[in-house]
Amino acid sequence: MRIKTLRLQLRFLAPLALVFAAVAYVSLPLIDNLMLRWAARDLALRGTLVANAMSDSVARSLSEGDLAGLTALFERTATDERLLGMALCGTDGALLSQTARLPESVDCALVQTPAETPGLLSLHSGAVQVGRHPIVVEGVPLADLLVVHDMSILQRRSADTQGYLLLLLVGLGALMSLITMVVAQLSWRGWVAGARAILRGEGLIRPFDRPVPELAPLAEELRERLRELEDGYRRLQVADAPWDPARLRALLNTQLRGDQVIVVANREPYIHERTDAGVRVRRPASGLVTAVEPVMRACSGTWIAHGSGSADRDAVDAHDRVSVPPGQPEYTLRRVWLTPEEEQGYYYGFANEGLWPLCHVAHVRPVFRESDWRAYCEVNARFADAVVAEAKSDDPIVLVQDYHFALLPAMVRERLPRATIITFWHIPWPNPESFGICPWREALVEGLLGSTILGFHTPTHGRNFIETVDRFVEARIEHEHGIVRHAGHDTLVANYPISIRWPAQQETAGWTPVAEARANVRQAHGLSAQHRILLGVDRFDYTKGILERLHAFERLLAKYPEWVGEVSLLQVAAPTRSELDEYQDFQHRIHRVTARINARHGRPGYVPVILLAQHHEPHQLLDLYRAADVCLVTSLHDGMNLVCKEFVAARDDEQGVLVLSRFAGAARELAEALIVNPYHVEECADALHQALGMSPDAQRERMASLRMVVREHNVYRWAGRMLSDTARLRLRSRIEARLKES
Ligand code: G6P
Repeated sequence: MRIKTLRLQLRFLAPLALVFAAVAYVSLPLIDNLMLRWAARDLALRGTLVANAMSDSVARSLSEGDLAGLTALFERTATDERLLGMALCGTDGALLSQTARLPESVDCALVQTPAETPGLLSLHSGAVQVGRHPIVVEGVPLADLLVVHDMSILQRRSADTQGYLLLLLVGLGALMSLITMVVAQLSWRGWVAGARAILRGEGLIRPFDRPVPELAPLAEELRERLRELEDGYRRLQVADAPWDPARLRALLNTQLRGDQVIVVANREPYIHERTDAGVRVRRPASGLVTAVEPVMRACSGTWIAHGSGSADRDAVDAHDRVSVPPGQPEYTLRRVWLTPEEEQGYYYGFANEGLWPLCHVAHVRPVFRESDWRAYCEVNARFADAVVAEAKSDDPIVLVQDYHFALLPAMVRERLPRATIITFWHIPWPNPESFGICPWREALVEGLLGSTILGFHTPTHGRNFIETVDRFVEARIEHEHGIVRHAGHDTLVANYPISIRWPAQQETAGWTPVAEARANVRQAHGLSAQHRILLGVDRFDYTKGILERLHAFERLLAKYPEWVGEVSLLQVAAPTRSELDEYQDFQHRIHRVTARINARHGRPGYVPVILLAQHHEPHQLLDLYRAADVCLVTSLHDGMNLVCKEFVAARDDEQGVLVLSRFAGAARELAEALIVNPYHVEECADALHQALGMSPDAQRERMASLRMVVREHNVYRWAGRMLSDTARLRLRSRIEARLKES
């Protein structure tokens, strides 16, 4: 370090010394010359004074012819060491009188020489100066007085002055160099020592060399900040690296220091059910579960959910916990029990008869009952209790899922103020006018504003939420950054498009080959090997556009009769919320329309619409996806829709066409699908016709592009982006808390 510093200083000092030398070289002769000229003028002036003083005496002596007296007067005057001598010359150039020490080189011939400087005749040998001063009496010139000064004294003085000046410059240079060196040393050492001191938790100024303990937390934060910068840098390096469980785990362990992750979602990922054959574990039909479950497996946290299975209570321990997935536990499922009344009011009532139709523009009226609202508030509080009970620290990361828990974020915030609460709203958020019809709109919005981050699938839903806040709640909104400040707390409103887990290679290697899956599915439904399959996979829900799909299919058969007998619509409709009238009515209607279409276009050996209104396990769906020629997603309104992404992930043969509703969030990402307006029957029928007639090459081109999007934008990226934002906000809130403390 010393050698480095020395080099640094030399590099700085050498040019400085050169500048000083150049200044001295140029300035010294100039100064010398200037001083000599000043001195010569001085002497000339002095000569004039002497001549003026003597002019009367000279005139008198001349008139009296007393030249001896004149010489004596000159000798007396010329006793000054600088005055070498004097001479008096007549106007004709004759020498009238002179002092004894007058240099030989000076004679009256000089009087004839024209003077450059008034009164100054010339310099002889650089050592003497002769001044010529006319003696004039009453306007008549009588004689010229020559006054000779010794210039060698001046030259000696000039040499002395040069020496002093040089010394002064050298001294100044040395002083400046010294100051520079000291400042450089101090700054370098100061910075290094200061940085070290801060990293040790000490102050920059340490009285008596003692550490300053109050700064230790700041140092810790600084260290973390540095780590974060490094992480950010590393992330930049791997910006294109795919998101997978390992990368998500690394993020959790580094940026989030392994902090506890708690998920709150109404639907549980594994449902234990009692059947005639014993207890069976079922996977629910839920896009939310499809997305969040792989994230939980990577995080090894706790999932709090409603224990809705008939054998759920038998599977849990004394704390209502069960390790899942069954047989290969990776995280904990904590079940919360609800009474039938609670389930009715909170789940069926307020969540699914109120909020669900309120948020989806599917032309089904929301129903708001006071008793449902009360149940919703109570159940949210019950789940908040469970979060607090499961939290191992006062600042866990709580991932709140969906419209079942709009009040929970503020409830948890009240009891665990330091918790990081990330709420993800899986369904659309309508515009303020639509949302405004809810009698408890303010409470819902305020509940959500307890979140640290509130996520939506698309920017439109996020904007709608912010506009709703603006309309109904007292809050400060930073539109540019999507930040809402309410009740002294900030919520970041952002969009994180959800996705699915992209299957690993080992997994796809075990899949039934496409040709086999095609054959199996066709055989299972009594279809010929060449029969074309249009596939729909949905929960049996009015938002999914199943009715519109049936109409479009019917129109296809009518408009393009060549497909009659050649193609069937295979519609999987998983039972859902069947207790609700709206759902029952809808399901009956679908059955009726299906029967009508089959009656109209069907014939022996040909069933146009095959409605599979039952639950399917993931491996069964995989075979259907692989067997299909076209997958139809015609939601009337959908937060994202993961069926289309599942279909794309299943098609490693790069075949198959996706027809996708423009009202599903996924349409933003999956532009290579055939995008349709499900309300436009004609357009949909044409799209189906186009899909069925698409060449294998064109299918491959589109499918390859769709697969690339889904592979990159997988669910680990969804979680990773949210958790990266979480890490950033946690760090910031810690620094702010420390600063407040200090
Ligand atoms: C949607 C909701 C989820 C819900 C799923 C299934 O995807 O956003 O929260 O889990 O539907 O509905 P269910 O009522 O059966 O849980």
